[in-house]
Amino acid sequence: MSNPLARLLKRLRGSKTEQDERQEKPHVFVKELSPRSRRHLLRHFLALEEKDRLLRFGSKLSDDMVTRYVEGINFERDTVFGVYDRRLRLLGVGHLAFAPKEATRISGATIKPVVAEFGVSVSAAARGLGVGTRLFMRAAMHCRNADVDTLYMHCLSSNKVMMHIAKKAGMEIHRDYGEADAYLKIKPANSATVFQEALEEQVAMLDYIVKANFKALLKWGARVTGIGARKKDDGAPPPAA
Ligand SMILES: CC(C)(COP(=O)(O)OP(=O)(O)OC[C@H]1O[C@@H](n2cnc3c(N)ncnc32)[C@H](O)[C@@H]1OP(=O)(O)O)[C@@H](O)C(=O)NCCC(=O)NCCS
Repeated sequence: MSNPLARLLKRLRGSKTEQDERQEKPHVFVKELSPRSRRHLLRHFLALEEKDRLLRFGSKLSDDMVTRYVEGINFERDTVFGVYDRRLRLLGVGHLAFAPKEATRISGATIKPVVAEFGVSVSAAARGLGVGTRLFMRAAMHCRNADVDTLYMHCLSSNKVMMHIAKKAGMEIHRDYGEADAYLKIKPANSATVFQEALEEQVAMLDYIVKANFKALLKWGARVTGIGARKKDDGAPPPAA
């Protein structure tokens, strides 16, 4: 792992040696998204295969329904996290939806007024690199800092990868008719968790800006030299997500 910012973050999370770092998966920067990311979100979700849409949304959504879902995301109430690749395509998306506890299936699991439900998806080509786990961990930290003590996930119990991530995080899992409800009890925040989340967001923002500038530079270079120019750019100018 060559990125010094990533190394600093790893060290803040725990004591890791250089050798540990070399054996680990590449560092994943998780960034909070804004309504300006809707176009990126839509592209990510529409690229999911039918079976993955089923796992992610619990039913086989058509393209129209996926479009309506993306248009309907309430960024003021919920928090959406994303992981971008070098070309500013979303490799992974985690949607943390907050709801009054009475409106959920787990109203008895918390004394807090609000619970959070998490849904996550990672592009097929980016799986197994730790993206899903990092999105989940970031969502859990966000809940902690938002005074939410219960993180809830609903998925098919046949979803072995998600079950693995849930168990690894220490979630309590209840299975019922092929479906699973998983809960994670979250500890109260402290100044270190608040600082860590703020730092992670700053680093992810920096990473995004570097990628956006590099992409703009490549595009400019292609226009000036005519090398690598495409009829239609697949990224378009990136929104400041
Ligand atoms: C579930 C999903 C988000 C995981 O994303 P990911 O980035 O591949 O996950 P990670 O790389 O962080 O972790 C995968 C873990 O599962 C493990 N795993 C992979 N295949 C497995 C299997 N068949 N059985 C058990 N564990 C498995 C990996 O070894 C890894 O564990 P480790 O970190 O302990 O080594 C992704 O597969 C996805 O988008 N699936 C479709 C949508 C979905 O299922 N969403 C969840 C419902 S809300």
